[in-house]
Amino acid sequence: RGDDVQAWFDAVIEADQKVEPRDWMPDDYRKGLVRQIAQHAHSEIIGMQPEGNWISRAPTLKRKAILLAKVQDEAGHGLYLYAAAETLGVTREELVDALIEGRQKYSSIFNYPTLTWADVGAIGWLVDGAAIVNQVPLCRCSYGPYARAMIRICKEESFHQRQGYEILHTLSHGTPEQRAMAQDSLDRWWYPSLAMFGPPDTQSTHSAKSMGWKIKRHSNDELRQRFVDMCVPQAKVLGLTIPDPDLRWNDERGHHDFTEPDYAELMRVVAGDGPCNAERMAHRRRAHDEGAWVREAAAEYAEKAASRKKA
Ligand code: 3HC
Repeated sequence: RGDDVQAWFDAVIEADQKVEPRDWMPDDYRKGLVRQIAQHAHSEIIGMQPEGNWISRAPTLKRKAILLAKVQDEAGHGLYLYAAAETLGVTREELVDALIEGRQKYSSIFNYPTLTWADVGAIGWLVDGAAIVNQVPLCRCSYGPYARAMIRICKEESFHQRQGYEILHTLSHGTPEQRAMAQDSLDRWWYPSLAMFGPPDTQSTHSAKSMGWKIKRHSNDELRQRFVDMCVPQAKVLGLTIPDPDLRWNDERGHHDFTEPDYAELMRVVAGDGPCNAERMAHRRRAHDEGAWVREAAAEYAEKAASRKKA
Protein backbone atom coordinates (compact mmCIF):
# COMPACT_ATOMS: atom_id res chain seq x y z
CA ARG A 1 0.00 0.00 0.00
CA GLY A 2 1.09 3.62 -0.63
CA ASP A 3 2.02 4.57 2.92
CA ASP A 4 3.70 1.17 3.57
CA VAL A 5 6.10 1.49 0.62
CA GLN A 6 6.81 5.15 1.40
CA ALA A 7 7.60 4.15 4.99
CA TRP A 8 9.83 1.33 3.69
CA PHE A 9 11.65 3.76 1.35
CA ASP A 10 12.14 6.34 4.12
CA ALA A 11 13.55 3.63 6.43
CA VAL A 12 16.06 2.51 3.76
CA ILE A 13 17.25 6.10 3.26
CA GLU A 14 17.34 6.72 7.01
CA ALA A 15 19.45 3.58 7.54
CA ASP A 16 21.93 4.69 4.83
CA GLN A 17 21.08 1.59 2.79
CA LYS A 18 20.80 1.33 -0.98
CA VAL A 19 17.70 1.63 -3.16
CA GLU A 20 17.98 -0.85 -6.05
CA PRO A 21 16.37 -0.72 -9.54
CA ARG A 22 13.51 -3.11 -8.76
CA ASP A 23 12.64 -1.40 -5.45
CA TRP A 24 9.67 0.94 -5.12
CA MET A 25 10.78 4.58 -5.16
CA PRO A 26 8.95 7.94 -5.21
CA ASP A 27 8.48 9.30 -8.76
CA ASP A 28 10.39 12.49 -8.00
CA TYR A 29 13.31 10.47 -6.56
CA ARG A 30 13.45 8.51 -9.84
CA LYS A 31 13.10 11.67 -11.96
CA GLY A 32 15.77 13.48 -9.90
CA LEU A 33 18.19 10.60 -10.39
CA VAL A 34 17.54 10.38 -14.15
CA ARG A 35 18.17 14.13 -14.38
CA GLN A 36 21.46 14.03 -12.46
CA ILE A 37 22.89 10.75 -13.80
CA ALA A 38 22.00 11.56 -17.43
CA GLN A 39 23.58 15.04 -17.18
CA HIS A 40 26.61 13.50 -15.51
CA ALA A 41 26.90 11.05 -18.44
CA HIS A 42 26.44 13.85 -20.99
CA SER A 43 29.26 15.76 -19.23
CA GLU A 44 31.65 12.84 -19.61
CA ILE A 45 30.91 12.49 -23.32
CA ILE A 46 31.08 16.20 -24.16
CA GLY A 47 34.18 16.46 -21.94
CA MET A 48 36.04 14.31 -24.47
CA GLN A 49 36.05 17.18 -26.98
CA PRO A 50 38.24 19.85 -25.29
CA GLU A 51 40.94 17.30 -24.48
CA GLY A 52 40.50 15.32 -27.70
CA ASN A 53 41.59 18.47 -29.57
CA TRP A 54 45.10 17.97 -28.18
CA ILE A 55 45.64 14.25 -28.86
CA SER A 56 47.18 14.95 -32.29
CA ARG A 57 49.23 17.84 -30.86
CA ALA A 58 50.61 16.32 -27.65
CA PRO A 59 54.31 17.26 -27.21
CA THR A 60 55.61 13.68 -26.85
CA LEU A 61 54.45 10.14 -27.66
CA LYS A 62 54.18 9.44 -23.91
CA ARG A 63 51.87 12.45 -23.37
CA LYS A 64 49.82 11.40 -26.41
CA ALA A 65 49.38 7.86 -25.07
CA ILE A 66 48.36 9.13 -21.62
CA LEU A 67 45.89 11.66 -23.05
CA LEU A 68 44.42 9.01 -25.39
CA ALA A 69 43.88 6.70 -22.39
CA LYS A 70 42.22 9.50 -20.41
CA VAL A 71 39.82 10.48 -23.19
CA GLN A 72 38.90 6.84 -23.71
CA ASP A 73 38.26 6.57 -19.95
CA GLU A 74 35.82 9.51 -20.20
CA ALA A 75 33.87 7.67 -22.93
CA GLY A 76 33.73 4.66 -20.62
CA HIS A 77 32.50 6.82 -17.73
CA GLY A 78 29.74 8.14 -19.97
CA LEU A 79 28.64 4.62 -20.97
CA TYR A 80 28.77 3.48 -17.32
CA LEU A 81 26.55 6.36 -16.28
CA TYR A 82 24.09 5.94 -19.19
CA ALA A 83 23.80 2.27 -18.11
CA ALA A 84 23.11 3.39 -14.52
CA ALA A 85 20.44 5.82 -15.79
CA GLU A 86 18.81 3.07 -17.90
CA THR A 87 18.16 1.04 -14.72
CA LEU A 88 15.62 3.79 -13.89
CA GLY A 89 13.51 2.97 -16.94
CA VAL A 90 14.80 5.43 -19.54
CA THR A 91 16.43 4.37 -22.83
CA ARG A 92 19.81 5.48 -24.18
CA GLU A 93 18.07 6.97 -27.22
CA GLU A 94 15.80 9.12 -25.01
CA LEU A 95 18.82 10.45 -23.11
CA VAL A 96 20.95 11.15 -26.19
CA ASP A 97 17.98 12.89 -27.86
CA ALA A 98 17.46 15.00 -24.72
CA LEU A 99 21.09 16.15 -24.89
CA ILE A 100 21.06 16.79 -28.65
CA GLU A 101 17.75 18.66 -28.48
CA GLY A 102 19.06 20.74 -25.55
CA ARG A 103 16.46 19.44 -23.09
CA GLN A 104 19.22 18.13 -20.78
CA LYS A 105 22.48 19.77 -19.74
CA TYR A 106 26.15 18.92 -19.44
CA SER A 107 28.75 20.48 -17.16
CA SER A 108 29.44 24.17 -17.80
CA ILE A 109 33.19 23.59 -17.61
CA PHE A 110 33.36 21.97 -21.03
CA ASN A 111 32.16 25.13 -22.74
CA TYR A 112 35.58 26.75 -22.26
CA PRO A 113 38.30 26.40 -24.92
CA THR A 114 41.57 24.50 -24.55
CA LEU A 115 43.96 27.10 -26.01
CA THR A 116 47.36 25.66 -25.03
CA TRP A 117 48.91 22.35 -24.00
CA ALA A 118 48.96 23.60 -20.40
CA ASP A 119 45.13 23.55 -20.52
CA VAL A 120 45.30 19.74 -20.75
CA GLY A 121 47.23 19.88 -17.46
CA ALA A 122 44.82 22.36 -15.89
CA ILE A 123 41.82 20.23 -16.87
CA GLY A 124 43.40 17.18 -15.25
CA TRP A 125 44.45 18.99 -12.08
CA LEU A 126 41.43 21.28 -11.62
CA VAL A 127 38.47 19.80 -13.54
CA ASP A 128 39.18 16.15 -12.73
CA GLY A 129 40.24 17.29 -9.26
CA ALA A 130 36.87 19.00 -8.81
CA ALA A 131 35.14 15.93 -10.22
CA ILE A 132 36.85 13.78 -7.57
CA VAL A 133 35.75 16.13 -4.76
CA ASN A 134 32.20 15.94 -6.13
CA GLN A 135 32.18 12.23 -6.95
CA VAL A 136 33.76 10.64 -3.86
CA PRO A 137 30.68 11.52 -1.76
CA LEU A 138 28.48 10.19 -4.60
CA CYS A 139 30.01 6.74 -3.90
CA ARG A 140 27.75 6.88 -0.81
CA CYS A 141 24.66 7.96 -2.77
CA SER A 142 21.44 6.11 -1.83
CA TYR A 143 20.84 4.72 -5.35
CA GLY A 144 22.87 1.49 -5.72
CA PRO A 145 23.81 1.55 -9.44
CA TYR A 146 24.96 5.20 -9.29
CA ALA A 147 27.01 4.68 -6.11
CA ARG A 148 28.68 1.58 -7.56
CA ALA A 149 29.44 3.32 -10.88
CA MET A 150 31.12 6.12 -8.91
CA ILE A 151 33.51 3.76 -7.11
CA ARG A 152 35.02 2.59 -10.41
CA ILE A 153 34.98 6.08 -11.95
CA CYS A 154 36.71 7.72 -8.95
CA LYS A 155 39.65 5.32 -9.25
CA GLU A 156 40.19 6.39 -12.85
CA GLU A 157 39.69 10.09 -12.04
CA SER A 158 42.67 9.90 -9.65
CA PHE A 159 44.88 8.88 -12.59
CA HIS A 160 43.35 11.74 -14.64
CA GLN A 161 44.10 14.27 -11.90
CA ARG A 162 47.68 13.07 -11.35
CA GLN A 163 48.61 13.12 -15.02
CA GLY A 164 47.29 16.69 -15.36
CA TYR A 165 49.14 17.80 -12.24
CA GLU A 166 52.34 16.25 -13.55
CA ILE A 167 51.98 18.11 -16.88
CA LEU A 168 51.70 21.41 -14.99
CA HIS A 169 54.60 20.48 -12.67
CA THR A 170 56.81 19.83 -15.73
CA LEU A 171 55.80 23.15 -17.31
CA SER A 172 56.00 25.23 -14.12
CA HIS A 173 59.52 23.91 -13.52
CA GLY A 174 60.51 24.37 -17.17
CA THR A 175 61.52 27.38 -19.29
CA PRO A 176 60.10 30.85 -18.52
CA GLU A 177 57.74 30.45 -21.52
CA GLN A 178 56.49 27.12 -20.15
CA ARG A 179 55.97 28.62 -16.68
CA ALA A 180 54.03 31.51 -18.22
CA MET A 181 51.87 29.06 -20.20
CA ALA A 182 51.07 27.10 -17.01
CA GLN A 183 50.21 30.30 -15.08
CA ASP A 184 48.02 31.58 -17.96
CA SER A 185 46.14 28.27 -17.93
CA LEU A 186 45.53 28.43 -14.16
CA ASP A 187 44.30 32.02 -14.59
CA ARG A 188 41.71 30.91 -17.18
CA TRP A 189 40.54 27.65 -15.58
CA TRP A 190 40.41 28.57 -11.86
CA TYR A 191 37.03 30.33 -11.63
CA PRO A 192 35.18 28.10 -14.17
CA SER A 193 36.37 25.10 -12.07
CA LEU A 194 34.91 26.67 -8.90
CA ALA A 195 31.65 27.22 -10.80
CA MET A 196 31.51 23.50 -11.71
CA PHE A 197 30.19 22.80 -8.20
CA GLY A 198 26.98 24.62 -9.10
CA PRO A 199 25.21 27.76 -7.87
CA PRO A 200 25.56 28.85 -4.24
CA ASP A 201 23.46 26.82 -1.80
CA THR A 202 21.05 29.74 -1.49
CA GLN A 203 20.28 29.49 -5.23
CA SER A 204 20.34 25.69 -5.55
CA THR A 205 16.99 24.31 -6.74
CA HIS A 206 17.66 20.65 -5.97
CA SER A 207 20.01 20.53 -2.99
CA ALA A 208 17.43 20.32 -0.21
CA LYS A 209 15.54 17.37 -1.74
CA SER A 210 18.68 15.73 -3.11
CA MET A 211 20.33 15.83 0.32
CA GLY A 212 17.14 14.56 1.97
CA TRP A 213 17.28 11.56 -0.32
CA LYS A 214 21.04 11.16 0.39
CA ILE A 215 21.87 11.56 -3.31
CA LYS A 216 23.83 14.77 -2.71
CA ARG A 217 25.78 14.18 0.50
CA HIS A 218 27.42 17.64 0.82
CA SER A 219 26.18 20.99 -0.44
CA ASN A 220 27.61 22.81 -3.47
CA ASP A 221 29.34 25.40 -1.26
CA GLU A 222 30.78 22.77 1.10
CA LEU A 223 32.39 20.88 -1.78
CA ARG A 224 33.61 24.10 -3.41
CA GLN A 225 35.32 25.04 -0.12
CA ARG A 226 36.84 21.54 0.14
CA PHE A 227 38.19 21.94 -3.40
CA VAL A 228 39.79 25.35 -2.68
CA ASP A 229 41.41 24.02 0.52
CA MET A 230 42.82 21.08 -1.48
CA CYS A 231 44.21 23.23 -4.34
CA VAL A 232 46.05 25.88 -2.31
CA PRO A 233 48.98 23.67 -1.18
CA GLN A 234 49.06 21.98 -4.60
CA ALA A 235 49.45 25.35 -6.35
CA LYS A 236 52.32 26.16 -3.96
CA VAL A 237 54.17 22.98 -4.98
CA LEU A 238 53.64 23.97 -8.62
CA GLY A 239 54.98 27.44 -7.85
CA LEU A 240 51.89 28.91 -9.54
CA THR A 241 49.67 31.70 -8.19
CA ILE A 242 45.92 31.16 -7.81
CA PRO A 243 44.36 34.27 -9.42
CA ASP A 244 42.53 35.44 -6.28
CA PRO A 245 44.11 38.31 -4.26
CA ASP A 246 41.58 37.69 -1.44
CA LEU A 247 42.52 34.01 -1.02
CA ARG A 248 43.86 33.51 2.52
CA TRP A 249 43.72 31.04 5.40
CA ASN A 250 41.07 31.85 8.01
CA ASP A 251 42.11 30.30 11.30
CA GLU A 252 38.69 30.77 12.88
CA ARG A 253 36.91 28.94 10.07
CA GLY A 254 39.69 26.41 9.54
CA HIS A 255 39.30 27.04 5.80
CA HIS A 256 40.57 29.43 3.13
CA ASP A 257 38.54 32.57 2.45
CA PHE A 258 38.26 32.97 -1.33
CA THR A 259 36.53 34.96 -4.06
CA GLU A 260 33.42 33.20 -5.38
CA PRO A 261 33.15 32.52 -9.14
CA ASP A 262 30.82 34.69 -11.24
CA TYR A 263 27.49 32.85 -10.85
CA ALA A 264 25.84 35.05 -13.46
CA GLU A 265 28.47 33.77 -15.91
CA LEU A 266 27.72 30.18 -14.79
CA MET A 267 24.02 30.65 -15.51
CA ARG A 268 24.81 32.26 -18.90
CA VAL A 269 27.12 29.37 -19.84
CA VAL A 270 24.55 26.82 -18.63
CA ALA A 271 21.91 28.61 -20.71
CA GLY A 272 24.05 28.14 -23.83
CA ASP A 273 26.02 31.39 -23.94
CA GLY A 274 29.50 30.08 -23.14
CA PRO A 275 32.57 30.40 -25.44
CA CYS A 276 32.19 26.91 -26.94
CA ASN A 277 28.56 25.77 -26.44
CA ALA A 278 27.65 25.94 -30.15
CA GLU A 279 30.85 24.15 -31.19
CA ARG A 280 30.40 21.38 -28.59
CA MET A 281 26.78 20.73 -29.58
CA ALA A 282 27.51 20.87 -33.33
CA HIS A 283 30.31 18.32 -32.83
CA ARG A 284 28.01 16.07 -30.77
CA ARG A 285 25.22 16.26 -33.36
CA ARG A 286 27.65 15.51 -36.19
CA ALA A 287 29.08 12.49 -34.32
CA HIS A 288 25.53 11.25 -33.67
CA ASP A 289 24.52 11.59 -37.33
CA GLU A 290 27.75 10.01 -38.62
CA GLY A 291 27.25 7.13 -36.20
CA ALA A 292 23.69 6.37 -37.38
CA TRP A 293 24.89 3.59 -39.71
CA VAL A 294 26.61 1.81 -36.80
CA ARG A 295 23.42 1.88 -34.72
CA GLU A 296 21.34 0.64 -37.69
CA ALA A 297 23.83 -2.16 -38.44
CA ALA A 298 23.90 -3.25 -34.79
CA ALA A 299 20.08 -3.27 -34.62
CA GLU A 300 19.86 -5.24 -37.90
CA TYR A 301 22.45 -7.75 -36.65
CA ALA A 302 20.60 -8.17 -33.31
CA GLU A 303 17.31 -8.77 -35.16
CA LYS A 304 18.87 -11.42 -37.45
CA ALA A 305 20.59 -13.13 -34.48
CA ALA A 306 17.28 -13.21 -32.59
CA SER A 307 15.35 -14.67 -35.55
CA ARG A 308 18.11 -17.29 -36.10
CA LYS A 309 17.72 -18.26 -32.43
CA LYS A 310 13.93 -18.65 -32.86
CA ALA A 311 14.29 -20.76 -36.03
N1 3HC B 1 27.00 22.87 -15.26
C1 3HC B 1 25.76 22.73 -15.80
N2 3HC B 1 24.61 22.78 -15.08
C2 3HC B 1 24.74 22.97 -13.76
C3 3HC B 1 25.98 23.11 -13.10
C4 3HC B 1 27.14 23.06 -13.92
N3 3HC B 1 28.37 23.19 -13.40
N4 3HC B 1 25.76 23.26 -11.78
C5 3HC B 1 24.43 23.25 -11.61
N5 3HC B 1 23.82 23.07 -12.80
C6 3HC B 1 22.37 23.05 -13.04
C7 3HC B 1 21.73 21.83 -12.41
O1 3HC B 1 21.77 20.72 -13.30
C8 3HC B 1 20.30 22.36 -12.21
O2 3HC B 1 19.65 22.42 -13.48
P1 3HC B 1 18.57 21.30 -13.91
O3 3HC B 1 17.44 21.39 -12.90
O4 3HC B 1 18.15 21.69 -15.30
O5 3HC B 1 19.29 19.97 -13.86
C9 3HC B 1 20.54 23.82 -11.84
O6 3HC B 1 21.81 24.18 -12.38
C10 3HC B 1 20.50 24.08 -10.34
O7 3HC B 1 21.63 23.49 -9.74
P2 3HC B 1 21.47 22.58 -8.42
O8 3HC B 1 22.63 22.82 -7.51
O9 3HC B 1 20.11 22.76 -7.82
O10 3HC B 1 21.54 21.15 -9.09
P3 3HC B 1 22.13 19.79 -8.49
O11 3HC B 1 21.57 19.54 -7.12
O12 3HC B 1 21.92 18.77 -9.53
O13 3HC B 1 23.71 20.07 -8.30
C11 3HC B 1 25.65 19.22 -9.44
C12 3HC B 1 24.52 20.26 -9.45
C13 3HC B 1 26.54 19.48 -8.21
C14 3HC B 1 26.47 19.33 -10.72
C15 3HC B 1 25.01 17.83 -9.31
O14 3HC B 1 24.10 17.66 -10.37
C16 3HC B 1 26.02 16.69 -9.37
O15 3HC B 1 26.70 16.42 -8.40
N6 3HC B 1 26.08 16.01 -10.54
C17 3HC B 1 26.95 14.85 -10.66
C18 3HC B 1 28.35 15.29 -10.98
C19 3HC B 1 28.47 15.85 -12.38
O16 3HC B 1 27.54 15.94 -13.13
N7 3HC B 1 29.69 16.23 -12.71
C20 3HC B 1 29.96 16.73 -14.03
C21 3HC B 1 31.34 17.31 -13.99
S1 3HC B 1 32.24 16.80 -15.35
C22 3HC B 1 32.89 15.29 -14.93
O17 3HC B 1 32.69 14.79 -13.84
C23 3HC B 1 33.74 14.62 -15.92
C24 3HC B 1 35.12 14.42 -15.36
O18 3HC B 1 35.73 13.41 -16.11
C25 3HC B 1 35.91 15.67 -15.45
